[in-house]
Order: sequence, then C-alpha cells, then structure tokens
Amino acid sequence: MSLKNEIIEILEENKGTPISGEIIAKKLSVSRSAIWKNINILKKEGHKIEAVSNKGYTLNTVSDVLTKEGIILKLGDCQNNINLLVFDTVDSTNLQAKKCGFENAVDKSVFVANCQTNGRGRKGRSFFSPSDTGIYMSILLRPEDFSRDTIKVTIAAAVAVVRAIKTVTMQDASIKWVNDIFLNGRKICGILTEAVSDMETGSIDFLVVGVGVNVSTAQFPKEIENIAGAVSEKQISRNDLTAEIIKEFLKLYKDLSSPKILEEYKKSSLVFTKHIKYEKNGIKYIAKDVDINDYGNL
Ligand code: BTN
Repeated sequence: MSLKNEIIEILEENKGTPISGEIIAKKLSVSRSAIWKNINILKKEGHKIEAVSNKGYTLNTVSDVLTKEGIILKLGDCQNNINLLVFDTVDSTNLQAKKCGFENAVDKSVFVANCQTNGRGRKGRSFFSPSDTGIYMSILLRPEDFSRDTIKVTIAAAVAVVRAIKTVTMQDASIKWVNDIFLNGRKICGILTEAVSDMETGSIDFLVVGVGVNVSTAQFPKEIENIAGAVSEKQISRNDLTAEIIKEFLKLYKDLSSPKILEEYKKSSLVFTKHIKYEKNGIKYIAKDVDINDYGNL
C-alpha cells in the first residue's frame, strides 16, 4: 500500500477526531514532512482534512471521497471474501469487470468508481454517472453451478440496495420490477446484470452485476429530470453505503435458493396490480401485473 493510502486509512479510522502528525509518522516509520507532503496530495484529491496546530490532522466527517480504505474499514470480515478495486474515473464498471473477467479476474471481484464516462443502462441506454455524487459498482461472479436460482442475482442486488439504504439512512426504498429502486417516487438506482458465455462450451462463463446509485446527485439531464432522484440531500458516506451494499449482497448470494429473498423483494415492491404494456414477437399487449413467480419473473 502506498504511504498516501496508509495515511488515509489511519485518518478514516479516526474520522472526526484529530490525530497528530507525529503519531502518524511513528506508526508508519516515516518523517513528519513525508506525512505533510502526502496530506497535501490527499487534500488536492478532495479529502477534507483539517490541520490544527498542537492537535494534528482531522478527516472531516463530511469528507466523502470514495476510497478502497474507506470501504474496507466498513466491510468487516467480508473484506476477505472479495477482491476490491476502486477507481476515480472509468468508462463503465461493467465494461471493466467484463474486461478483467476475460483476463481471469477472480470470483467476487468488485469494481467501484467515482465517475463513469460511458455508464451503461438496460436496453442500450446510457446511465448518467457524474463524479462525486454517486456509486457505480460492478460485482463479477463465477458461480460454480448455474441453476435457475442463479438468475436471481439481480433480485438479490435489488434487495441488498434496499437493505443498505435502510441501514445507512433509515429510509424505506421500493423496488420496481425488476431492477429499479425508487425513493419518494423517484428512481435512485438502476441495476444491469450481464452474462458472458463461453462460445466453445455454450455455458455461462461469468456474470457481472452492475449497480448505479444516485447518492446525492442534484442535477440530471433533461430527459430523466422528472424521473431521477437521489438517496439523500443530506451528506451520507458513499464508502459506508458501498460497503453495506456489498455486505448485504454477499449474504444473499450465499443462498439464492432461499425463499426469503423473494419474500423480501415482494415486500419492498411497488404495489402490483397495475396495468402494464408489453410487447412479444412484435405484438403489443396490455396486462395486469399480479405477482412474480419463484424465479423472479413477472
Ligand atoms: C438501468 O437503470 O438501466 C441500469 C443502470 C445500471 C448502471 C450501473 S452503474 C455501474 C454499472 N456500470 C455500468 O455501466 N452500468 C452499471
């Protein structure tokens, strides 16, 4: 780990409380001027660090830079089960996950970004992914067996997001079948699951579950400004929310056959019995959504 990252790890552990440059320097066996230099780099990267003479450095509680150290701190034991990669800017975390998937990235590699320049949504749409206000993450999965339950990964991801929002903000978000999360009537999260198959065997090689959350995004492009919203106007830590989503997802992923996942999904679902339009083989239908079956199909 670089010195800069070691410093932010210590500051994250003591968030809101001052810690002296001398203590940090001793802990890391470096000079105080090396600490000072790296603190300045961290500040330039957006970390809100205050320096008070005779007290030391404090990472302000409102500091909200997505970092591997900040996420790991909240992951607990779960950090041992994943391979976490955090980026400032990528084209798309799903694209990164797929690229690394072809290069043998391990099961449960998690790609997190502060910003996406080519965020992708369902049906070929783009996903608005500005910097500093959202969480864009993709989990690469290499299930040992593919059963009908495997397709429930998207359902599990939706339930994980709802649980995480409840834990971090105490708010009850809802799920709109199959992969949109709503809060106060606005879409605050979208999920895009992609499967990559092995052309030779015809079987699925790996899955990528992509989750995009508008955490504090306040301005959206015209075409989505009436639908999109954010988790909170108040400051919430993206590191905390990211860790919580990962933890909840991995708990659910352990047993996708559990009927409890669908029970919870249905409890959080926006009411059924709405009239919906759908198209099959070029023919348009109007139907009433009544329920979802044991495999998450409407
Ligand atoms: C949708 O609402 O249509 C799905 C949006 C999924 C967006 C996430 S953000 C992280 C991951 N990377 C992407 O490019 N897309 C998914």
